[in-house]
Amino acid sequence: MKKYRIPLPPMPQNKYQIRLEPAGMVFEVDPALLPYSRHGLPGSILDVISAKDESLIDHACGGVQACSTCHVYIETGLETCSEISEREEDHLDQAVGVKLESRLACCCVPDGSEKLVVVRVPQWQKNEVKEG
Ligand code: FES
Repeated sequence: MKKYRIPLPPMPQNKYQIRLEPAGMVFEVDPALLPYSRHGLPGSILDVISAKDESLIDHACGGVQACSTCHVYIETGLETCSEISEREEDHLDQAVGVKLESRLACCCVPDGSEKLVVVRVPQWQKNEVKEG
């Protein structure tokens, strides 16, 4: 079994927003209040969004970087996100429809240097995982 070193990415330093598409929901992120939930790395997109509603982004492994069900596209603000780890890359390789802007929501921690990060959940993702 492959062993990974998982460094914790730095937490955001500024307040910012995440807009989740296609739902069009906006989430305020206040670094002073992180982590928001127990899903994913502290400050990750999954951490923020699942605190409001756990069903918005699938996370079959509970956010411990052991699947690829939390695959999302970062449409705006990708450059503000934490570096992709070897472990995240390995799991993204298992995802369907991977693009340059693909990330796993449980690993991706924006630094708050931009006021808005736009995240899109692939429409087909949920069915692909549950039926595949
Ligand atoms: S929830 Fe399993 S890798 Fe993100």
